[in-house]
Amino acid sequence: MKMLKLQIDGQELQAQKGTTILQAAKSIGIDIPTLCHSENLKPYGACRLCMVEITKDERTRLVASCVYEIEDGLVVKTNTERVKKIRRMIIELLWPSLTGLAKEYDVASSRFWPKETECNLCGLCVRYCSEIRKLDAVYFKGRGIDRELAIVPELARECAFCHQCHELCTGGWIVYHSDQAF
Ligand code: FES
Repeated sequence: MKMLKLQIDGQELQAQKGTTILQAAKSIGIDIPTLCHSENLKPYGACRLCMVEITKDERTRLVASCVYEIEDGLVVKTNTERVKKIRRMIIELLWPSLTGLAKEYDVASSRFWPKETECNLCGLCVRYCSEIRKLDAVYFKGRGIDRELAIVPELARECAFCHQCHELCTGGWIVYHSDQAF
């Protein structure tokens, strides 16, 4: 497997082609916050909490580290002011289920209080049910700000015997609703 050289927060390292920035950073002890990422599921890139700044060929931009694969000569910065600013914005959007991170990034309140449920739309339960459980009992319906989780009523009884997605739930919605649906 081809090895690529890169730099993360000033540290030089080598990692296999196909490694994501998130994985490479973790391998040298650099922690990048995530929400929709799970090592057991395919990369998804939905929440953008894991954004980092990359520079390649004198061009700097923000990318989601959980889906972006490393490149030779890449320079990555995981904690710049620009990165912190976007994480603060995302944490504010996801308030109140991220109170721990909110403290870390000094976010005291949110302009975007969620509707009646506490679903962060991270998609972990949907992906678990589809990729691992192969059931598709939970899905997203609607688009944009109307996007929300739903459970297929005919499959809800299966949920009562599974509950595996509960451990992944970042907002509490599925924990409450999967037992209410049948
Ligand atoms: S953890 Fe990377 S986009 Fe959600």
